[in-house]
Amino acid sequence: MSSKITTKRPIKALDDKFNEALSTNMHKIGVRVKGSVKNLTKKYRPVRKEGRTAEDIFAGAETPVDSEGNRIMIQVQNLSKIYGRRPEEALKLLERGYDKEEVQNRTSHNVGLYDVSFNILEGEIFVLMGLSGSGKSTLERCMNRLIEPTSGRVIIDGLDFTALDENDLRIARRKKMSMVFQNFALIPHRNVINNVAYGLEMQGVPEAKRLEKSKEAIDLVGLAGYEESMPSDLSGGMKQRVGLARALATDPDILFMDEAFSALDPLIRNDMQDEIVKIQSKLGKTVLFVTHDLDEALKLGDRIALMKDGKIVQIGRAEDILQNPADEYVSRFVKEVDRTKVLTAEIFMRRPRNLLYVTQGPRTALRIMDRLDRNDMLVIDRHNRFLGRVESDDVLRAVKAGEQDLSDIVVEMPTVGPDAPMSDVIQIMVTTDFPIPVVSDTGLFLGTVSPSVAADTLNGGVTE
Ligand SMILES: Nc1ncnc2c1ncn2[C@@H]1O[C@H](COP(=O)(O)OP(=O)(O)OP(=O)(O)O)[C@@H](O)[C@H]1O
Ligand SMILES: [Mg+2]
Repeated sequence: MSSKITTKRPIKALDDKFNEALSTNMHKIGVRVKGSVKNLTKKYRPVRKEGRTAEDIFAGAETPVDSEGNRIMIQVQNLSKIYGRRPEEALKLLERGYDKEEVQNRTSHNVGLYDVSFNILEGEIFVLMGLSGSGKSTLERCMNRLIEPTSGRVIIDGLDFTALDENDLRIARRKKMSMVFQNFALIPHRNVINNVAYGLEMQGVPEAKRLEKSKEAIDLVGLAGYEESMPSDLSGGMKQRVGLARALATDPDILFMDEAFSALDPLIRNDMQDEIVKIQSKLGKTVLFVTHDLDEALKLGDRIALMKDGKIVQIGRAEDILQNPADEYVSRFVKEVDRTKVLTAEIFMRRPRNLLYVTQGPRTALRIMDRLDRNDMLVIDRHNRFLGRVESDDVLRAVKAGEQDLSDIVVEMPTVGPDAPMSDVIQIMVTTDFPIPVVSDTGLFLGTVSPSVAADTLNGGVTE
């Protein structure tokens, strides 16, 4: 292996260099491990069956359909996962009605999942939620077999995934699904587009084609123009977008997302949630989204499954779960969130792209308004504090009067806090007909709720 960087295949050369460094370090670790690392990893190394394609593997599998004619993308049937060497005894106790804690006490085996069954429809955003340790990640990883289930079946698009051998599993997984995690590892020495292209490269897609597909995915997640940037130059939110683009580039049917946005700042997180909804409605992907955040679950989930102690305690639409909590546990979980608080301005607000700074001159303002074809715009100061609104007639007058900035013509307008219930926002909107600015306690501008969003809320009948 050469560590020389050639200009012809820069990526390959850099990768080789990276891998070389990695294996040198691995070797250092390896010599400390008794026996050969090669032997240790042997059983995990897949046997290559030449020429197998995803089409071969899925040949004969037919997408099942439910009673209403919806295609079922994922079927989970009696899935269990017991962590430990001898799961049989733990399973027997569970069958006899012992709970997770009792099984743990008697067998020292941890129940990750027990007897879970449900379906996910094609194009659905299905949210798994529950407290830490309830089994969300275990369930998600048993579904894509990053973790081997102890018993039960997972059927993906009509194909029994649990019956696949290592080789077929790898091929089927690459073709069918992608994953996005919380701490998404980007390859540090590759730029954005070559990070995004990674999955396609693994599939053996030729370079020109994979760069083209990667570019599409980058555009889709709003990162156009950052193709050549390096991971170290990106913010946390942008890195997560790269992760999403990488997951989308292979055009999988299913996206698995485990706490994918949990490490992001609230506003960026909000943007990413909007992004996922947008992408999903455009591409019709089936999404399994894991979160412990109820607001996030309510915003994203077509359906939500609530987990506790390795079991699903309730599945339904957000409204069903809020209105008819299946048991004490669910109702305690949702009670923490006041129902009207669930639908707050913060959830529905967007950050408008175009704002005016009060320090801008009226001529500049007029130019911008002209270009955007707008009669009024919102005004903030250099510290992102919200000041109000200007109207084009006033701006024109300010130009004629030779004014230097917008401070004299800014008109105050009603605002709401991020926690304001949507019912309040709608009331204000009835009187003003403008997007309502959302402003923090300290006067910072956060976004606006538009009349159309408010109307949707009303039509959806979700306000009280
Ligand atoms: N590798 C493992 N070995 C032993 N027990 C495990 C392992 N991974 C998970 N568990 C146990 O399985 C149960 C479910 O864990 P899991 O990680 O699936 O929960 P989670 O809902 O994803 O939690 P979090 O919100 O903290 O990510 C927990 O009791 C956990 O301790
Ligand atoms: Mg988890």
